[in-house]
Amino acid sequence: MTDIQTVGVIGAGQMGAGIAQVAAQAGYEVILSDVDLPRAQKGRDGIIRLLAKGVEKGKIAQSDADEAIARITPVGEIAPLAGAQLVIEAATEREEVKRAIFTNVGPLLAADAILATNTSSIPITRLAQAAPDAGRFVGVHFFNPVPVMVLVEVIRGLATTPETVAAVEGFAGRIGKTVVQAFDAPGFVVNRILLPMLNEAVFVLGEGVGSVVDIDMGCKLGLNHPMGPLTLLDFVGLDTALEILNVFLSTTGDPKYRPAPLLVKYVEAGWYGRKTGRGFYDYSGAEPVPTR
Ligand code: 3HC
Repeated sequence: MTDIQTVGVIGAGQMGAGIAQVAAQAGYEVILSDVDLPRAQKGRDGIIRLLAKGVEKGKIAQSDADEAIARITPVGEIAPLAGAQLVIEAATEREEVKRAIFTNVGPLLAADAILATNTSSIPITRLAQAAPDAGRFVGVHFFNPVPVMVLVEVIRGLATTPETVAAVEGFAGRIGKTVVQAFDAPGFVVNRILLPMLNEAVFVLGEGVGSVVDIDMGCKLGLNHPMGPLTLLDFVGLDTALEILNVFLSTTGDPKYRPAPLLVKYVEAGWYGRKTGRGFYDYSGAEPVPTR
């Protein structure tokens, strides 16, 4: 079985940086790559800030934080990924972007290296078409915020080998995550259930059934969810949510996945949520302010 010592992470955004952080904290060497060095460094800077907070709160020893940070090498090109036994792609949720990455990175990898994707929705068997070896290609789906959320979904494509699944499960265990297995269908288990709920919340808002505050408060207090659905959409990114719903719709042809018109409008307006400073809430002040 592949002995994983070095993990490559492609994409230093919120998911990629989170994966890099938990891998480094578990003792793996991490190569954190993005399209250019400043973006990769920005991802690493975010990890430094989060670990510093952990030290402040007394949750992590300063020496452990320092060691974890020292294990993360930010890079602006793909060549260094050749040294990794496991490469996890956590780039934008667009099939053409992911395929281009696999086509470029695949030939660099060692013969027993595993290529994994953190896709939220795109079928693994389909993405494996662009991978060098479908047997060593697998889905590992993390949840945001990665350092806090304990779950990892492991999704095998039709050709993924049991050895690949076992290696990835071993990795997930060492970074302190609990694995659920999912078959290769759009959205796997959790997003298949979550996204229709989040989409429905936007229909409810668009139809004027409830305000942003009432919808979020209703789900928080009535369902004991830690965040209301509109807050969660702002957190996940409305653009990402729309991409996922469109994958569900185009892959299954089932109209139940039709994105809420208001979700489409918000994305068209560039109101993606927290990352752009505005979604269903406005984040420009000290506290988020509901926009409807
Ligand atoms: N990164 C790292 N750590 C974070 C964090 C972040 N972005 N946000 C919060 N935390 C940590 C805090 O530091 C705190 O740690 P501590 O207990 O060691 O002090 C802990 O999380 C709790 O944070 P807070 O007290 O500030 O706030 P909450 O109690 O409200 O918890 C939350 C925040 C954990 C984000 C909680 O609101 C929550 O669980 N929300 C739901 C998250 C969720 O559903 N995620 C899944 C999204 S779907 C997905 O990712 C799939 C994708 O494919 C779309």
